Amino acid sequence: MKTLRTRSDLRAALGSMGAGVEVGLVPTMGALHAGHLALLEAARAECDLVVASIFVNPTQFGPGEDFETYPRDEKSDARTAKAAGVDYLFVPPVKEMYPDGFQTWVEVERLSQGLEDDARPGHLRGVATVCLKLFNLARPRRAYFGQKDAQQSAVVEQLVRDLDLDVQIRVVPTVRDEDGLAVSSRNAYLSDEERLAARALPRSLFAGEEAHQHGADALAAARVALSTEPRLTPEYVELARFNGRLHLVAAARVGRTRLIDNVLLEGELA
Ligand code: PAJ
Repeated sequence: MKTLRTRSDLRAALGSMGAGVEVGLVPTMGALHAGHLALLEAARAECDLVVASIFVNPTQFGPGEDFETYPRDEKSDARTAKAAGVDYLFVPPVKEMYPDGFQTWVEVERLSQGLEDDARPGHLRGVATVCLKLFNLARPRRAYFGQKDAQQSAVVEQLVRDLDLDVQIRVVPTVRDEDGLAVSSRNAYLSDEERLAARALPRSLFAGEEAHQHGADALAAARVALSTEPRLTPEYVELARFNGRLHLVAAARVGRTRLIDNVLLEGELA
């Protein structure tokens, strides 16, 4: 595995590949965990060459969010990525992705409104912009995203459709820990007690899923289940239709940590 830090090095490395080599791109912000590994495994299985990026993208963090404190451990991530069969690890500095004078933004209008955008205005604009840049740099045949961030994946799918990008978006099912909590870099912020409380989030989504399977009201079931955990402050529990799929999506705060999760009620992942 080779670590590359500049756009020109990435372009040069990929440019030397023969035509017809299918590149799989896995964009991440590092602190690699089992969720990221599922994306890397899918890319490894389906593509000739796997490029993973690690870039804590400042433009998707709002003021007062955890950009500065976001977990960063490049050495450990590089070991994980290498073991997962990554060929090129792209780790650009912020100035490389956003040189002085940068001023072009991509906005996927309606899909970026509501849900995550209510708590994190501008977040999905930062995501869409950095993903388009990564697609242009790595020229992947396929790019891999997680179901866990359902609105984000949908925004990227829409971006690809609207701007005629020649990349196939694959959405990989959410990886969960044994206690049901979706694996996330931010779970590291949780104390033991908060972690116990956090389990109410997936539990409520599973309750909604079960209700839906029995023809009952998924939303009501999830909201009732979530209200039984006083240490958890719900931000939203909603039904969301993304690219023909129906998700039950939720976000909640436990202490200072914000968690999001969802289950797929109808339709199939891309
Ligand atoms: P990050 O949070 O590092 O996540 C990278 C990818 O891993 C995303 O597509 C996310 O949905 C997926 N992922 C995270 N946890 C997962 C889990 N438990 N199961 C399955 N997939 C999971 O999301 C981002 O970074 C950034 O916004 C990024 C897309 C890299 C743009 O900056």
